[in-house]
Amino acid sequence: MKEDRHFIAESTLEARLASSLHSREQRNIRRRLPEPSSFSSSSGPIDFSSNDYLSLASSPTLRDVFLDKLRAAPDVLGSGGSRLLVNGQAHSALEARLAQFFHSPAAILFNSGFDANVGFFFLLHDGIRAARVRDAQFQFEHNSMRAFCAMISKLLKERPELQSGQNSLFVAVESLYSMDGTFAPLAEIVQTLEESFPARNAYLVVDEAHSTGIYGPQGRGRVAQLGLENKVLARLHTFGKALAATGAVILTSALIRDYLVNYARSLIYTTSLSFANIVAAESSFDMLMDGTAAQLSKDVLELSEYFVESLRPRLQNIPIHLLSLPLHVQYLSPASPASPIIPIMTSLPRPLSAYLLNLGMNARPITWPTVPKGKDRVRVCLHAGNTTSDVDRLIAGMLHITKQQHARRTE
Ligand SMILES: Cc1ncc(COP(=O)(O)O)c(C=O)c1O
Repeated sequence: MKEDRHFIAESTLEARLASSLHSREQRNIRRRLPEPSSFSSSSGPIDFSSNDYLSLASSPTLRDVFLDKLRAAPDVLGSGGSRLLVNGQAHSALEARLAQFFHSPAAILFNSGFDANVGFFFLLHDGIRAARVRDAQFQFEHNSMRAFCAMISKLLKERPELQSGQNSLFVAVESLYSMDGTFAPLAEIVQTLEESFPARNAYLVVDEAHSTGIYGPQGRGRVAQLGLENKVLARLHTFGKALAATGAVILTSALIRDYLVNYARSLIYTTSLSFANIVAAESSFDMLMDGTAAQLSKDVLELSEYFVESLRPRLQNIPIHLLSLPLHVQYLSPASPASPIIPIMTSLPRPLSAYLLNLGMNARPITWPTVPKGKDRVRVCLHAGNTTSDVDRLIAGMLHITKQQHARRTE
């Protein structure tokens, strides 16, 4: 009897799960893991998709540095448990190195950028609940300083506790946004916060996941590039993208580090990074510190400019909805420099991406709900290891299929 009930509950559960997946299928938003075979050999498609912007994942130099360090390391395998319980010597040494490198008072490692964000922002969430603040989260129009300033004025008017400095405001942004390749106006945000909150109770938190290794001196990120290290509460750098490793670090004050060690669940209740992961991260930071990354960054950003300069004039006779470059990509400035992420706006992201894959190039379609409706795109991620002839092939492929579609529609 007991077993029967269990069986019924499970089958109801399965029916519900299957129905959710089916509904996604019908709405064309079902996610699937890519076929492993499409990535398995060196003759696989040209990579216009991964976050390995500096191509360090296939760098023989990094591989050699890593293997040499691994051989010499006192500990190389699993760390054995939570950071609070086990030998954290290698972790502490990396944290000390990163605090110094990034000019930060303190640094704390997490197993991933996701864990770091969950750890940090859950504390804010807990704080909001404990303080019983209502309507505590707000969004402003992407990168619009006008919208940001309007939001700040409204908040200050409606919430005297903010004006008096009794409550705090936290502003969280990404320095380089991964879907658009746009840059948060960090300097302007800092200035607005300083002017609007003389009690210094507004704090900026910057996620540098996509800018780590690429921008700033030695790849230290956009905050460092703009000289804002002392103006932000916390910075997140992840190791899994341009650094070809795993893990993440939050750079912040010693007090907040201590607070995270005490309250961040994604730090406390998880096995800390394995020693091999620490060695990998150390090796990647060697590449940043010795200038290797700076050269690779220059390469990928030059390639990005080449791509845009080559594509832009060839889009003139193509309807904007079929293929276009967003304005921020076309007009570079210090506030909006070249980026390895270039969204190609198109109403036909899936056929375009499928056609490119057929030609041996992997650039992924990005559609709603990942991006707003009407903002579908094929996202091109460039890498230091891509060549100008790879980019020429990409452009030729995109133009060919788009012109074909255009001709078919106007027949
Ligand atoms: C902006 C941003 N922050 C954090 C993360 C998470 O980092 P990780 O891959 O190390 O978990 C990602 C993506 O993975 C990201 O795009």
